[in-house]
Amino acid sequence: MSAADATGIPGREPSPPWSSRDVQFDHYGGQRLPFGCTGASGIIQHFVELSGSDAGRAFDVLDASGGYGSACLGAGSEVIAAALSDGVRNAGYVTDEIASSERSLLLERLFAPGGLFADRFPAADYRVSGRNSGSEGMELALRLVLESRFDHRRLRAAPGTGERDVVLAFEGAWHGWTGGLLPLMNRRHYRIGLPAIAPEPFGFRTDHIPFGDLDAAREWFDRNGERVLAVVVEPVQGDAGILVPEPGYLRELAALAKDSGALLVADEVLTFAKTGQFFGMTDESGPIPTDITVIGKSLGMGALSTSMVIARRELGARPTGTVSTSDLRPLTCAVIRAGLDHIVSEGLVERSGKLGAELGRLLHEQVVAKFPDLYVEARGVGVMHGVELTDLAAARIGKLRTSMIRNGVYVEFMSGAGRRSRGLRYVNATMRVAPPLVATADDIETIVARLAAGSHALLQETP
Ligand SMILES: Cc1ncc(COP(=O)(O)O)c(C=O)c1O
Repeated sequence: MSAADATGIPGREPSPPWSSRDVQFDHYGGQRLPFGCTGASGIIQHFVELSGSDAGRAFDVLDASGGYGSACLGAGSEVIAAALSDGVRNAGYVTDEIASSERSLLLERLFAPGGLFADRFPAADYRVSGRNSGSEGMELALRLVLESRFDHRRLRAAPGTGERDVVLAFEGAWHGWTGGLLPLMNRRHYRIGLPAIAPEPFGFRTDHIPFGDLDAAREWFDRNGERVLAVVVEPVQGDAGILVPEPGYLRELAALAKDSGALLVADEVLTFAKTGQFFGMTDESGPIPTDITVIGKSLGMGALSTSMVIARRELGARPTGTVSTSDLRPLTCAVIRAGLDHIVSEGLVERSGKLGAELGRLLHEQVVAKFPDLYVEARGVGVMHGVELTDLAAARIGKLRTSMIRNGVYVEFMSGAGRRSRGLRYVNATMRVAPPLVATADDIETIVARLAAGSHALLQETP
């Protein structure tokens, strides 16, 4: 029996057989983190060392990741527990063939006049479909884009649409894992060896330009004009390293798309409820209109994996073209409604906007400025912050991760936008600091203090 098999938390028997984690695909090339989690409450996670002389040591970490940015209410929310329990007992499971009262209540709450999202997505102009994950939502969005050129009756390109075959995406883009999305991803590593969508008929080409560079966007639209079918954008690029565009960029991009007759797709899977607003496609003048918006992650309140595709009504796919077993399941709708009502009544999104500004300041002062050998800069908004690593830290990323965890804070590391063209500088891997919405001002201070302690400890280690 290995040390890992023997570990567990005293008083919490039976110890789980940790070695069974080998059954799950290893995405980290044998470098998985040597920790187990035995439970969590709020943003505190109970960890245990799985190997080495400390195997079996139990300790707590503050969560500054939200499980890839999905657990906006942390762990153990009573509101979500009640909604799940009541939903399982009472909500039923009818599919979209039958109207469900839970589904209707949610759609009313979000899209009817005065609804939470009605200022940007009034029910008269938009429709919605539910999916199980962000990837599936983005896949449906892409499908709606492609089918917008399609004459469903004649099964060929609709008149005047056949020439539109170029989709604009961005360097560092991350939109999900499923097959159709591969061309949009600016990641050769994930694409190679897998088929691309055939060019004819109804195929498309994807171009990637630097994110946040308006001149590059203008020049690209000048060159591609009426061939542009769609623009697919993350309002804040997540996996690329938490890249926040300059004010005005997203609105101008939306205008360029509109003027060229292209559809604008906002991938808000990650940004939903995390930028100090519900939607990242927002500026001082209010909502920035989109043709399709996909939200996910936080939408499932950390309890369910779900996403929503909100699309202009005229983007109707062929009948049954968007059907899915779990499209807006009553239970899912009950959880979303309870969670959103709670977030609104507690003012959590607004609060996260204010705390986020403080988080950014503290990260700069106590992490970046104090450890220039490890960090280049901190950037972010709301509860989405990134601290970019120097070459030195990027080369020791595994040790940095474990050092942070052993110093009591859990953060994730994004791969970064890699080598960027057009004179934009290289973006290294980036530490993502994205605590759940329920994190308090004290939590934020403690998270930053522990990040500083973890950085200090790494520098004390012999390389
Ligand atoms: C911007 C963005 N889009 C889509 C996805 C895919 O979502 P999921 O992992 O739920 O399929 C992610 C996930 O990381 C994401 O960050």
